[in-house]
Amino acid sequence: MPDTDQFLSIYLSEIGVHTPVSIPCSEQEPTVASEVITETNLSDPKTLNALSVQASDCRLCGLAETRNKVVFGVGNPHADVVFIGEAPGKDEDIKGEPFVGHAGQLLDRMLSGIGLDREQVYIMNTIKCCPPNNRDPRVEEVQACKLWFEQQLDILQPKVICLLGRVAAQTVLQTDATLGSLRGHWHDYNGIPIWVTYHPAYLLRSPKQKQHSWQDLLTLSGKFH
Ligand code: URA
Repeated sequence: MPDTDQFLSIYLSEIGVHTPVSIPCSEQEPTVASEVITETNLSDPKTLNALSVQASDCRLCGLAETRNKVVFGVGNPHADVVFIGEAPGKDEDIKGEPFVGHAGQLLDRMLSGIGLDREQVYIMNTIKCCPPNNRDPRVEEVQACKLWFEQQLDILQPKVICLLGRVAAQTVLQTDATLGSLRGHWHDYNGIPIWVTYHPAYLLRSPKQKQHSWQDLLTLSGKFH
């Protein structure tokens, strides 16, 4: 696996930035390997872990019939920043972990661009189960899954939340507004600042937007670095 500097230079050249840039360094203590936390190894088993165990058996909507694994979330439960995507895809459904496919690899490079890695943040989706044939989640599925992500955010209490793409933004912010109108300014979720940016899967289809996404990431990182 490339190291952080390599990741950063790959990502910056991908988005067309060829001049050296200064990335703010995190004041967070680096996470040591033994502290790396997944949904099955959480430091507070009575809270996030208990919720993840409950969610793993969820039958609140029809996706329970077709999913392979409930994809609850992964990362540091004490993270300053939580990234929220839409719904697991096929790769995530098999592994039980969010953002492990192509979009996830781009997300890793985006994180690296602002000096972070997966173990320093928390990553989750608004919908915990993979919709069949990659279709958009249905209203009743989104509604049912709120039970999980709202409790998850209550426990996590990050300094900032970053919503990836239209579906996550509309779901968490409870709005029909377009992604374009939601980007570029701060929102609020129960007192936690929310920043909206493009979904990495969209960036894979529309690489020209990576420049804008980079600006979004720099603004985001200014909020917690
Ligand atoms: N897209 C998402 O929104 N979430 C994932 O976990 C993977 C792809």
